Amino acid sequence: SAIRREDYAAPAFWIRTVELTFDLDPAKTIVASKLAIERNPQAAPGQALVLHGEDLTLLRCLADGESVSFRHEEGLLVIDHPPEKDAFTLEIRNTCAPEKNTQLSGLYTSTGGLFTQCEAEGFRRITYFLDRPDVMAVFSVTLRADKAKYPVLLSNGNLVEQGSLDNGRHFAKWHDPFPKPSYLFALVAADLVCREQKIVSRSGKEHLLQVYVRRGDLDKTEHAMASLIASVAWDEARFGLPLDLDRFMIVAVSDFNMGAMENKGLNVFNTKYVLASPATATDGDFAGIESVVGHEYFHNWTGNRITCRDWFQLSLKEGLTVYRDQEFSMDMAGSPSARAVKRIDDVRGLRAVQFPEDAGPMAHPVRPDRYQEINNFYTATVYEKGAEVVRMMATLVGREGFRRGMDLYFERHDGQAVTCDDFAQAIADANPGSALAVNLAQFKHWYAQAGTPRLTARGSHDVTTRRFTLTLTQSALPSPGQPDKQPCVMPVVMGLISTDGRALPLRLAGEEAAHGTERTLVLTQPEESFVFEDIDDAPVPSLLRGFSAPVVLDSGLYDGALITLLRHDHDAFNRWEAGQRLALNRLLAALPGTGELPALDDAYIDAMRAVLRDPALDPAFKELVLTPPGEGYVAEQCAEVDPQRIHRLREEMRQQLAARLHADWLWAWEAHQVREGYRPDAVQSGKRALANLALTMLVLDAVAKGDPVWPGRAYQRVKDAGQMTDRHAALKALIDGHSPLAQGALAHFHGVAAGDDLVLDKWFAAQAQAAEPLDGGGVVLGRVKALLKHPDFSMKNPNRLRSLVGSFCRENPAAFHRADAAGYVFWADRVLELDAINPQIAARIARAMDRWRVLAEPYRSAAREALARVAGSAKLSDDVREIVSKALED
Ligand code: ARG
Ligand code: ZN
Repeated sequence: SAIRREDYAAPAFWIRTVELTFDLDPAKTIVASKLAIERNPQAAPGQALVLHGEDLTLLRCLADGESVSFRHEEGLLVIDHPPEKDAFTLEIRNTCAPEKNTQLSGLYTSTGGLFTQCEAEGFRRITYFLDRPDVMAVFSVTLRADKAKYPVLLSNGNLVEQGSLDNGRHFAKWHDPFPKPSYLFALVAADLVCREQKIVSRSGKEHLLQVYVRRGDLDKTEHAMASLIASVAWDEARFGLPLDLDRFMIVAVSDFNMGAMENKGLNVFNTKYVLASPATATDGDFAGIESVVGHEYFHNWTGNRITCRDWFQLSLKEGLTVYRDQEFSMDMAGSPSARAVKRIDDVRGLRAVQFPEDAGPMAHPVRPDRYQEINNFYTATVYEKGAEVVRMMATLVGREGFRRGMDLYFERHDGQAVTCDDFAQAIADANPGSALAVNLAQFKHWYAQAGTPRLTARGSHDVTTRRFTLTLTQSALPSPGQPDKQPCVMPVVMGLISTDGRALPLRLAGEEAAHGTERTLVLTQPEESFVFEDIDDAPVPSLLRGFSAPVVLDSGLYDGALITLLRHDHDAFNRWEAGQRLALNRLLAALPGTGELPALDDAYIDAMRAVLRDPALDPAFKELVLTPPGEGYVAEQCAEVDPQRIHRLREEMRQQLAARLHADWLWAWEAHQVREGYRPDAVQSGKRALANLALTMLVLDAVAKGDPVWPGRAYQRVKDAGQMTDRHAALKALIDGHSPLAQGALAHFHGVAAGDDLVLDKWFAAQAQAAEPLDGGGVVLGRVKALLKHPDFSMKNPNRLRSLVGSFCRENPAAFHRADAAGYVFWADRVLELDAINPQIAARIARAMDRWRVLAEPYRSAAREALARVAGSAKLSDDVREIVSKALED
């Protein structure tokens, strides 16, 4: 039942315009649709008109006003003999049942309102249509609904008319002038209020920006609005892309399968990415809002004006738009060091999620070749690795070159549905002679090959010739369906550092003079050597600066060299990377044994202390360096994974850092208190991040020593903190530090949440993510099970579900992977239970088992058994079936 990329064929018919009329009602909504259909002259003649439709009741179907015969096939409405004309109208009337739609795809209800989600294939759950992205139509939409229950009626584009109807109903007519695929359709009918703001764009045009939320939430929309205004300005300034609509709306909804959705002119958002006040949202939440608001706004050009020909091209819009939102957040962060912090954060995310995906059963290329359920392919590979591929192109052609490429892309393809090839071609064509243009065919392996390539670097220095030879080797492991891999084009941004910390001028053999102290080597062969001249002493190579390619780097560097990089590298990313590598080496060295983590050596501790105390470094950066690599990342370095052992060693590392740097943590805590009013900017949030890491360490150390002072202070913070960042951090410090005060703090936190859904999500997540005590025999699962019965818990709300079940299964390896298999039993039960409600979310939870094959026994066998139980269930969605069957395939 797999859909294959090579089977793409243009549709036999186009739909040019759509007139939709909705009689909205949660139990039964009536949809009248009038489609202007044209035959595709390029398609084979005599084909049937095949419309998609799912969970619909058809009331009527007329072609050019006459009844026409049709038949139903699984998910399809087939009209075998449409009028034999080049163009005709099709009129359809059908009903759907929003209130029964627990999948949250199509038209559904949430807290009394009606909302839609159509990407990827939700429009067919509203009415019959050619629900594929290459069919682009101009939409006119009339909404009719009860005025008291649904005072706000929104759809894409511009409001044309509104007024009252009989029986307490009212209507609104909307028109979107831009042809769009059905996945960008949206409607909202609800009791909402909005914050609005008029802005004037560079061109002098006026636009109305609106953020719609439930009554009572208006005071939490300031940051979303500010982010939207900044996004509009940024896209104009950086890419010359203006807002093309008079009105741009964001609507927040609390039941939503993902982060947000870029429907033309009517972005629909998970409340998590709209609502924020200092009292309810952390610095991380504020940053998330800025990036998601930017992301959806940037889709207006990269996604909506130019869209995807088919869903295999998803990364065309997603990879590019993630790249754009990452750049936006970096530009907003300001200072070079704040930019580096953002980059480190993004790479951490890539390694935590995309690298394991690329090494597991769901591994797929950035442009997949086949899928069973497209919803399973909204992945870190398509999004985040896709963004890395775009970033490499930008690196290869330079900042101006990339802008030229984007200009050419819009010149060629505005208004079209295109492919990833079209994008790469435009960037290359705008930069003839660039490393991208010269190697374009080979570069595109990044789109076609799954798996994370490995880059190995070895250097050798010759004192007599004063030459340093750097040999780079690339290799890639087989992945499902791809036994052999071709070498990739890898931009390796690099420099050479002398052991006393100088950046050395870089002159390659054959060159007249040095070209600065940083350059980009472009590796295209399986192995290449680069010879640098005039190097007196063996240097330390700083490679892959800024993480210039999404690969696993084996730098071959030992501690001395890593400490040099940590101290002196000019690239903040590589300084951080050196620190992580030092920590990782110590954990990996201890893993095979059974004893405790050996005492950390003075060199390492001193290096960490030096970073912590360095007045020239940003607090946010220090926090990243002083945080050891996550358990998931450590696991990815192992041929056989023992999650319990990894947890133990990492916890012991934290304990040692807490104890050995005690005086330094005290200082860090004191020195980074923010005394002015709350702002979620890079400077303040960096201080809070470091102060809160210090607090976490002080609590951890105090609990170990039976000292009540720091846990008491943390408890006090949970009670008195004026904002959520500090309150939440203090709560986590008590929970993860195993303080006896944690229970009281949780009770207090629940009280101040006062029913706020997003705060309650944090309360659930903090407990599901709780660090398992080293001698506690697995206490977290019991608490999670108890929380399933908590009155505030619901399986039906995706945010709540993710905060409890998702956090436990996917973010707490030591609690989830239990020797008694109880975590896996819990997983299987939840996946099956949830699959009947919301298959998309069930499939996400199902992926917690992706990496079961690398687990050590007894975990591995128990995991297989749980997977087999789910796979053996008689009633399984395509979504979950695809995930578990791939996991079990060999
Ligand atoms: N296009 C949306 C975004 O990235 C996400 C849509 C996800 N759709 C899905 N079926 N998972 O902004
Ligand atoms: Zn997106």
